[in-house]
Amino acid sequence: MPKDLDRWRRAGRIGGGARDLGVGLIRPGVQRRDVAEEIERYIRSQGAQPSFPVNLSTNDEAAHYTPDPEDERRFATGDVVKVDVGAHIDGAISDTAATVEVGSTRYASLVAATRNAVAAAEKELHGGVETQVLSRAIERTIHELGFKPVADLTGHTIESYLLHAGKSVPNVTGMSNARLEPGEVVAIEPFATNGAGHIRNGVFGNIMRFREAPAPDRFPELAELFQRFRTLPFCARWVAEPELREALHRGRKRLQSYPVFMEVEHGWVSQAERTFLVLEGGCEMLTP
Ligand code: CO
Repeated sequence: MPKDLDRWRRAGRIGGGARDLGVGLIRPGVQRRDVAEEIERYIRSQGAQPSFPVNLSTNDEAAHYTPDPEDERRFATGDVVKVDVGAHIDGAISDTAATVEVGSTRYASLVAATRNAVAAAEKELHGGVETQVLSRAIERTIHELGFKPVADLTGHTIESYLLHAGKSVPNVTGMSNARLEPGEVVAIEPFATNGAGHIRNGVFGNIMRFREAPAPDRFPELAELFQRFRTLPFCARWVAEPELREALHRGRKRLQSYPVFMEVEHGWVSQAERTFLVLEGGCEMLTP
């Protein structure tokens, strides 16, 4: 059991609130940069920090897109948008997502597929469960509605300051298997698509992180940014100072950058995600 369980619960509630706020903000004509900034402002106003930049991946983008500071794009009717957010309080991390179809219901069953898949996995989640039992529940639920799970993306255990800890919860069977123990925190994160069920790397998604501390004598601006973000993911929107933003742009090659994950057949993708605490006889949803 995490010693600071109360902090994990608070981070979870703030993450869930941020997700629902985002879902409510997304409408036709709304600028996606404004939505990202408003969600992140909410997280900070609650005494937490974003676990990572708000992801607003759209349509065949499966994950890892956050608006850059100049992003002018607005949501359009029919867009399928994944609101993937998290809050952390001193390293106690939450991770949660929901999918919004903007102003239409053409993809309602694609959206339902991942929402139902999380619920199906939740029913099976308890201390000692093998992750393949959860994978089977997820896979079956998504197939039932006529879609494919995205095989390359997985749920994951979470530890303090570590968003992707050791164990994975695949969205299909036949991948890895592990046993989840009481006291572990796990994000269940199914993705469903009307495409092939695989992803490839697309263009830079505006999310990056330091692999290591830059040398302060050679890269003073980058070293200043490292003090702020350490090794956690961040984005240029979080850097207000023009000279630091410029240094970040110049020094981008020195950082790990995250490409957008695109569905290989340009299938459209939905995602749902909740963070759970594993208990002896069941689980507690930390991100209601
Ligand atoms: Co996650």
